[in-house]
Amino acid sequence: MDTNSIPFFPEQASSIAGSVDALYAFLVLVTAFFSLLIAVLIVYFAVKYRRRSEDYIPGPVHGGLFLEIIWSVIPLGLSMVMFAWGAQIFFTESRPPADSMEIYVTGKQWMWKLQHMEGQREMNELHVPVNRNIKLTMTSEDVIHDFFVPAFRSKSDVVPGRYTTEWFRPTKVGEYHIFCAEYCGTRHSNMIGTVYVMEPAAYQAWLAGGSGQGSLAQKGEALFQQLGCSNCHLTDGQGRCPNLVGVFGKPQRTNAGVFVADASYVRESILNPGAKVVEGYQNIMPTFQGLVTEDGLQQLIEYVKSIGPTSGDSSGGGRINPGGAAAGGSSPPANRVDRNPKAGTPQSR
Ligand code: CUA
Repeated sequence: MDTNSIPFFPEQASSIAGSVDALYAFLVLVTAFFSLLIAVLIVYFAVKYRRRSEDYIPGPVHGGLFLEIIWSVIPLGLSMVMFAWGAQIFFTESRPPADSMEIYVTGKQWMWKLQHMEGQREMNELHVPVNRNIKLTMTSEDVIHDFFVPAFRSKSDVVPGRYTTEWFRPTKVGEYHIFCAEYCGTRHSNMIGTVYVMEPAAYQAWLAGGSGQGSLAQKGEALFQQLGCSNCHLTDGQGRCPNLVGVFGKPQRTNAGVFVADASYVRESILNPGAKVVEGYQNIMPTFQGLVTEDGLQQLIEYVKSIGPTSGDSSGGGRINPGGAAAGGSSPPANRVDRNPKAGTPQSR
C-alpha cells in the first residue's frame, strides 16, 4: 500500500513498509467504521425509541439469538484477521534473512555507536547500501533504548546485557531519521541519528574511505591476543581452556546443559565464565567484566565467528524459545538446547 501521498506520514523506504501501512490502514478503517456506526445508531435509537408520553411503559424485550450471533461472529472474524495478518508481519520482521549484512549497534545515554564487519565505526550515523538485507545486532551499555527508523517501519528494544536483532531492506536511496523510541533519561529526545541509504558503488567508496584498521574479526583477534585469551584457548586442544576453532554456532556440552554457541553464549562466557563451563574443563577463567567494552565484545564475537564453522545466526535475542520452562524455575535463556542428549548432536570436543 502506498502512503507516500498522505501528509505527515513517514516516507516508505523499506521492503516491509508497504505491508505495515496496509495493516495499519485496515485497523484505522475498521475502527472508524464501527465508531461511526455506533455513533449514528446511538442518535437514531435515541430518537426512534424515545419516551412518547409521561405514562408510556415499553414492552418487555426477550433478546434476539440471531442478532447476538451476528454481533459475536463478525467482531471475532475481524479480530482473527487482525491477529493473523499482524502475526505474519511480526514473523517476517523478527526473522532476519540468512543473507543479511550484519552491523553491530550499541546504545548508550545518549548516542548510537555502530560497527561494520569491515571495521568501520560510526556515531549516530549508519551508512548502508540500497536493496540489501541489513541485520542489526544490538545491545546497550546502560539502560533500555529502542532503535527506530520510521521510514523503514522497523523498531526494536536495545537492552543491556543481551543482544536483540532488527532487520530491514532499504528500497530507496536517501537520508532517514533514527530515533530512540524508549524513554531513557533527560536527553532521550536528543538520541537521534541518520541512516544514509546509498547506491552500492557509493557505499563501496564509503567503505574504502574507512579507518584502515582491519575488519571487526581482525580487531577481535588482536584483542584476543592482547587480553591473553590465546594463552589458554590454544588451537591444538591442549590448552587449559577449550579450543575455539569451529565452536561458533555449534551445541556445546557444559555443566549447565547443552547450549548453542551463539553471540549471547560467547558474550556470557567472557563476562561470566563460570555460568557454563564446557565439560572436561575447570572453572578457572577469570571474568572480563569491566575489562572489555561492548564494542570489544562485538569484535571478540566476530573473531570467534570467523574461526567457527558457520556464519549462521549470531544472536539469541528476539527468539521464541520452544523448550518452555526449565526445571530450574526461572525462564531459560533463548539459546537453551534440550538437556536430553538424544535431542541434539552435541559436538565432541
Ligand atoms: Cu535512548 Cu531513549
